[in-house]
Amino acid sequence: MHETAERFVVHGGRMLSGGVQIRGSKNAASKAMVATLLTDEPCILENVPFSEEAAITRELCERIGSSITYGDDHTCSIVTPRIREHSVIELSRRNRIPILAFGPLLVRAGEAEVPFLGGDPIGHRPIDFHLEALARMGAVIERRERSYYATAPYLTGTDIAFPFPSVGATESVLLAGVLARGRTRIENAAIEPEVQNLIAMLIAMGALITCESDERRIEIEGVRQLRGVRHRIIPDRNEAVSFAVAGLATGGAITLRGAEPAHLASFIAVVRAMGIIVEENDHGLYIAPPSFVGPMDVSSVSIATAPHPGFMTDWQQPLAVFLTRAKGTSIIHETVYEDRLGYLKDLARMGADISVSDECPSDSPCRFSGRTFNHVARITGPVSLNGADIEITDIRAGMAHIIAALSATGKSVISGVAHIDRGYETLDERLRTLGADITRV
Ligand code: EPU
Repeated sequence: MHETAERFVVHGGRMLSGGVQIRGSKNAASKAMVATLLTDEPCILENVPFSEEAAITRELCERIGSSITYGDDHTCSIVTPRIREHSVIELSRRNRIPILAFGPLLVRAGEAEVPFLGGDPIGHRPIDFHLEALARMGAVIERRERSYYATAPYLTGTDIAFPFPSVGATESVLLAGVLARGRTRIENAAIEPEVQNLIAMLIAMGALITCESDERRIEIEGVRQLRGVRHRIIPDRNEAVSFAVAGLATGGAITLRGAEPAHLASFIAVVRAMGIIVEENDHGLYIAPPSFVGPMDVSSVSIATAPHPGFMTDWQQPLAVFLTRAKGTSIIHETVYEDRLGYLKDLARMGADISVSDECPSDSPCRFSGRTFNHVARITGPVSLNGADIEITDIRAGMAHIIAALSATGKSVISGVAHIDRGYETLDERLRTLGADITRV
């Protein structure tokens, strides 16, 4: 990530409303770019967002041997005639994508070295599922001072059962299994829309994959080679939720253009339960408060984050800001990451009534139960927020800070803007078109 001293200055209290085009998914685009490494034929990706994450992934692929050009309209052409470099350790600590290159590098070059990973500080974030699965497929993996180095003359399909449906580890095994010898079966697989988008791309490249979502089971029959593809990245469901909540928290209505309602089902169910209006129309997905006059009358709600099709862990941060406006006490139970509620202390500083604890609600046990992770928040409203100076430390928490600043009274100065640029294309410009007073300085 490019370090930057840039900040956002926000004058809050202005209602956001209007239509916004949802860009392609950051977390699907980066995986699709890595998947192009599996073939020597040209691939064309449509709807790639111009975010820093895509730029970092581009650097990774170019280092490995890809030629990449961006066309108009968010199209990206990638061709990797041969693997020029199997080691990408200098891309250390910038995001979580390099581990996904292990599979393509091993099946095409027999050798791979990836750095210890970066990404957001939202918990321990181990990669043991990735490494154990690849080792079971025949990779010999050595931990070095700042990297993992692996070799394998070829990979062999095997049965893998994940202890938790990890998105990244499921993607790692898909990217390794498609060109492995024999059949790979993943039990307890992640079935997120981004994973499904990757599967669709791999199938279009000639891979043999079946996915039984209800069973969380994926089967991959290895093939000898894959061909080039033209593939479209799904709309970003995190961006969709961010804009929707930015509207709601400021009392306005937003139309999400190009969003996929099926990918947002659990979010839509939660906001409808609060009294929010959600309608699909010819322009997109319209999301509005129950009324535009007087104090907002919305109910509190209890959510537990969970793997898809549950309420996504990346949605609780923007939602938390809106929960400060709901009547009564809402609960957020974060069951995916053990340490993803740190940002709430900033909301409390801005005037929110929030308590955080390690005690799971009695009706919602989770794998963090009985451990000392502060993963349960109680937010009591309605309250008004006041502007503040805030330092962003991760993408989704940063989005919550920006929404809080937009809905607060007075001025906020937000630093750590690079985290936002990693995940959102020209966020400040697009918020301004909806009526926000936000400036990059
Ligand atoms: N886990 C392990 N071992 C592993 C892998 C995961 O214990 O080897 C645990 C994690 O520590 C976590 C849980 O499994 O507690 C789920 O992690 P997962 O592997 O699913 O997450 P990820 O693939 O690293 C992706 C997104 C995240 C998103 C999560 C959950 C990307 C690049 N990142 O992370 O997005 O929150 O899935 O849906 O796709 C973001 O975009 O800001 C972001 C953090």
